[in-house]
Amino acid sequence: MAEAIQNTNVFSSSKKRMNPDDSNRDDDIIAKKLPTKPTWEDPVMALANARHEFGEHGGVNMSIEASATFTVMEPETLSRMFAGELGPDRDFFIYSRHFNPTVLNLGRQMAALEGTEAAYCTSSGMSAISSILLQLVSSGENIVASQTLYGGTHALLTHFLPRSSNITTTFVDIRDLEKTKEAIVEGRTKVLYFESMSNPTLTVANIPELSRIAHEKGVMVVVDNTFAPMVVSPARLGADVVIHSISKYISGGADIIAGAVCGPASLLNSLMDLHQGAFMLLGPTMNAKVAFELSERIPHLGLRVKEHCHRALVYAQRMKKMGLKVIYPGLEDHPDHLLLKSISNKDYGYGGMICLDMGTEAKANKLMNLLQNYTQFGLMAVSLGYYETLMSCSGSSTSSELNEEEQALAGISPGLVRMSIGYSGTLEQRWGQFEKALSRLQEPGLFGKN
Ligand SMILES: Cc1ncc(COP(=O)(O)O)c(C=O)c1O
Repeated sequence: MAEAIQNTNVFSSSKKRMNPDDSNRDDDIIAKKLPTKPTWEDPVMALANARHEFGEHGGVNMSIEASATFTVMEPETLSRMFAGELGPDRDFFIYSRHFNPTVLNLGRQMAALEGTEAAYCTSSGMSAISSILLQLVSSGENIVASQTLYGGTHALLTHFLPRSSNITTTFVDIRDLEKTKEAIVEGRTKVLYFESMSNPTLTVANIPELSRIAHEKGVMVVVDNTFAPMVVSPARLGADVVIHSISKYISGGADIIAGAVCGPASLLNSLMDLHQGAFMLLGPTMNAKVAFELSERIPHLGLRVKEHCHRALVYAQRMKKMGLKVIYPGLEDHPDHLLLKSISNKDYGYGGMICLDMGTEAKANKLMNLLQNYTQFGLMAVSLGYYETLMSCSGSSTSSELNEEEQALAGISPGLVRMSIGYSGTLEQRWGQFEKALSRLQEPGLFGKN
């Protein structure tokens, strides 16, 4: 099955089911009639060029294939599907932990968004990350990773993978290209792993250079692009695999947990292999109803991202003018500003995340308390990409898996407030709320000593 499944092109456009014995398949004729595929220039353009899936009865939206299992007309068809002779490329489906048509359609949108050959979606960002790493790295092998990563990923690499699978990780400052190169041990290191824009410190990865270094040593580059969908397209810059926590910007509703792996079709097929595939055997399966909901949100992702980014830039500029210690890669004095400018897609902005360093955790907590409970600027909550502004003190929340030393190495100060800037209300209305909270914070005697 392994080889047979890889030989069927699951990630090409699916066609309505044909007679399995129809050896006169019209693939060639169809291929000849189709205009040549447009080259990938921009995520929104690529999404518009992607196949639009209609509903079963001509509905403008695709149908939901809410079935765990799929029937066949002849008993031989089932064994032919298991033998890999018939597959999703010809509209033959077995079971939804394997391929599901609705999830496959969402995967096509994700592949268009990231400019990869294929993509498939999972039940969470963490399941996407753990599945791809377990697929690419075996017992005794090594990962080289950025020392600044989402706390859950850091814990997976530091604690879980060494214990469960004898997979070790060497953490490096990926801004130091020489050190990164030195850390990669040819033959033993299988993956270079980092975030396009790091959680929470917002450092920007030099994706073209890091990919070049890794590829020189035969290592796969896996990039978590959760913080920068639309803004950065890692696969177009040299990365092999792009990961998303769809739970964030792509969902936009803070109501769904989901993830995706975007990459070469051969890799996605191997993840579904009946004997060796992490998707098939670990089962991080996305529900078809969830896939449908998410697919309805992708068409306005570009608009949402632009507004998140616009407001983040305006607020960061104003915060800086006020003398606050603000970290935002859109600011000209951010150390990665020029790098981001050179690798980002045009006209989306510099990301929707801002960090404010308040010095101490106590002061950070006071500010967040005022911003939520006194002026309603935003909500104290982890996560990002929601239409409301979300704020959390990273060191004691989403990065608390890192110990004190690891946090210091990652550049996470105890008073760092991570803000995911929302777009509800007007920009000026929200800014007024921010200013009001800040001036209250500066009032002497409020909550004791400032
Ligand atoms: C950068 C990054 N990657 C991955 C994840 C994990 O995603 P999920 O919560 O969807 O499992 C998160 C979650 O916060 C994240 O911030």
